Amino acid sequence: MHGFRSDNNAGLCPEAVQAILDANDGHRFAYGEDKYTEAAVAALRRLFGDGTAAWFVATGTAANTLAIASLTQPWQRVLCHEHSHYNDDESTAPERITHCRTVQIRTSAGKIEPGDIRQAGQVRGGDVHEPQPGVVTLSNPTEFGMVYTPSEMRALCDVAHAAGYRVHVDGARFANAVAALGCEPAELTGDAGIDALSFGGTKNGLAAGEAVVFFPQGDGRVFETATHAFAFHRKSTGHLLSKHRFVTAPFAAMLHDGAWLRHAAHANEMASRLSDGLVRLGYQLKFPTQANAVFVVLSPPIDAALRARGYAWYPFGDPEWNMFRVMCSFDTQPEHVDDLLADAEAIVAR
Ligand SMILES: Cc1ncc(COP(=O)(O)O)c(C=O)c1O
Repeated sequence: MHGFRSDNNAGLCPEAVQAILDANDGHRFAYGEDKYTEAAVAALRRLFGDGTAAWFVATGTAANTLAIASLTQPWQRVLCHEHSHYNDDESTAPERITHCRTVQIRTSAGKIEPGDIRQAGQVRGGDVHEPQPGVVTLSNPTEFGMVYTPSEMRALCDVAHAAGYRVHVDGARFANAVAALGCEPAELTGDAGIDALSFGGTKNGLAAGEAVVFFPQGDGRVFETATHAFAFHRKSTGHLLSKHRFVTAPFAAMLHDGAWLRHAAHANEMASRLSDGLVRLGYQLKFPTQANAVFVVLSPPIDAALRARGYAWYPFGDPEWNMFRVMCSFDTQPEHVDDLLADAEAIVAR
């Protein structure tokens, strides 16, 4: 199988494999009461700040929905991009777990703008007949592979907070965003005003590992309520893993020596090599490549010819765009990219 369909299709990075072997050291307390989990939380606090709080779950859907459940009440609304993972790929988990109304932000741009939140976020405040402001959930990198900078994130958070919303970021590929910007993780999260982050490890080489990090903002009341609620939401929805250390030991190992950023930077570099090559061959990119995904327009015959050579990818965005996501991973090699470019060249030349 060619490796461009998803970073979910990749195996484990060496750090994760080694950490699982190392953590297989006999009996340990379960449910996160172990030294590996303690080390992973400490590593996250070093990255994001001492005042932050963090927990672990196995899937991105659990991270997103449990974080948002902890930040909301069931009579509130959650604003998200119409093509966000939260809206398009999490089945009814948002409704089952948060009980909130999902409201879509419709935009064909690569990034949500503050004005989009202002418009979609309007409610008759205090009217019991209408779902009230709850959370704005943003993805960084975005649905279309672009990256919000710290100042863009700050502007989005300011508008959201002013309209009464908390801000959650789906960072299933947060490492790719940080690697692309070269900024400090705290600058892009707590310092920019966000209340909670789903920080993905799975797509960056772990077997199953997503952290949920909460950041104190303002008078700290949202943080206090959310961090009290999170552990109860996690257990009561069946997402508290007993053999926790096999999720947290690899997470700690990835953070320990910077492997999380090295792997993400490598995947980004492969995507940029691919994207430059496709543009040179005359292919159209619908959005600029800023992280590890390339969003390319493929006519049906070209798509079919590439698939006949064994490639696979998901369509994204509106069907009439003919846009496909070609994804690079921590283990994509330059020769894999060059082989795809050679096939893409042979097909356009026909
Ligand atoms: C943007 C985004 N968020 C979250 C997820 C996590 O999803 P899952 O629940 O399948 O782990 C994914 C996985 O593809 C994703 O692309």
